[in-house]
Amino acid sequence: MKCSDLDMRLTVIGAGHLGLTHAACMADLGHKVLAIDVDRNQIAKAAEGAAPFFEPGLELLLRKNLDAGRLRFATSFAEAADFGYVHFLCVGTPQADNGAADLTSAYAAAETLAPCLTSRCLIVGKSTVPVGTARKLMTLVRALAPAGELVELAWNPEFLREGSAVQDTLHPNRLVFGVTSDSAAQLLRQVYAKLLAAGIPELIMDLETAELTKLAANAFLATKISFINAIADVCETTGADVALLAQALAHDERIGRQHLTPGLGFGGGCLPKDLRTLRATAAALGADSAASLLGEVDAINLARRARIASLARETADGSLAGKRVAVLGVAFKPGSDDVRDSPSLDVCDRLAREGAIISVHDPAATASAARLYPHLRYAESVLEAAEAADLILHLTEWSAYQALDPAALGTVVAHRTIIDARCALDTDLWRAAGWTIRVLGRPWSPGPP
Ligand code: UGA
Repeated sequence: MKCSDLDMRLTVIGAGHLGLTHAACMADLGHKVLAIDVDRNQIAKAAEGAAPFFEPGLELLLRKNLDAGRLRFATSFAEAADFGYVHFLCVGTPQADNGAADLTSAYAAAETLAPCLTSRCLIVGKSTVPVGTARKLMTLVRALAPAGELVELAWNPEFLREGSAVQDTLHPNRLVFGVTSDSAAQLLRQVYAKLLAAGIPELIMDLETAELTKLAANAFLATKISFINAIADVCETTGADVALLAQALAHDERIGRQHLTPGLGFGGGCLPKDLRTLRATAAALGADSAASLLGEVDAINLARRARIASLARETADGSLAGKRVAVLGVAFKPGSDDVRDSPSLDVCDRLAREGAIISVHDPAATASAARLYPHLRYAESVLEAAEAADLILHLTEWSAYQALDPAALGTVVAHRTIIDARCALDTDLWRAAGWTIRVLGRPWSPGPP
């Protein structure tokens, strides 16, 4: 293999959330990186150090590495093939209409890159794919590449979260290397030498285990969330408090505190899609227990949205028609402007169809939300959204909402009623300011008339 230095020449194919973050982080580790994408606009912006999405710290890292001459952007696959020895495949694998992962971009990138590969190199998949995809891609690339069997393929799934993508890439919990040869593993060790030296554990495995590890990780996180939400229902009917219960569970190191916050459930471009992808694989393989468990996790999650909508209706005396509802938060989670499969927007849509007049606030995601749901009203401030509201719904737990002054907000609304669908607000504070606050799975009492 021709790269023996620790600083290598890498390409990143696909400059979306995953690719752009990976490119900036690899350059920051000292590698020379060329990132390409078919989207010329996106590449032009990235070349100026701008990220087309909200990700704390990313633009700073882009500019730093562009200025240092370690990072470059282009649109040509031939240039990428010529530049790099290791090619990271970071294209999107979004959810198709049938719920499964859409692999169109992954196959298109492989088919375009392969004819340009004239010498030994390693393609490293990072995108999340159904098990078996890596081996199919390797067969395809080897058939199309002039270098044939000299082209190797590895799978190195990414575990970054939106909102902490840079931190997660530079300080991952583990590095998973799915490989078919020792030389591929060795090359990946070189790429990640600085992280390995810092003590990040590496796990070497076959391609299929690496692909499945990623799906299983996301399915497990989804299962934790649905578990606590199912328990919230039990709390609801027994008068127990799911917030206290979750805190108590989290102290057990075997359970852990992450992904155990009850509420409206999970959304976004990853957890729902990966859960469904793994479920579909399990069902196709006849692994019925896995398929039914994962199906139930999905069903529990979707039921949260319906439950919040029905609680809103209940709170509005049985009908939402003509009621003014202020919605706080539409991003699928705080720290992001992403509204893909946003639980909040799903709720908004349900309420709007029942005739509610919805006014939405979000610190970062109103522009993306307005593209998908133009019929909702979008407010510049929380006070504007809450003006004359009959009901407030807290649907995405941005920290700014936890710092709100309930007394001040109480002066602009028509009724001091709020549903905290994220279990994040200080209920005592809101009650003390005269609000009726409902949280799924937590005891409540009606506020002052
Ligand atoms: C998820 C995984 O956490 C990452 O490890 C993975 O790399 C990524 O998918 C991916 O496959 O690319 P992400 O979708 O950015 O990351 O967001 P999470 O922080 O996992 O949150 C997902 C959803 O679960 C959000 O809607 C969030 O509001 C919800 N959630 C999270 C809860 O309802 N309760 C919790 O306790 C935690």
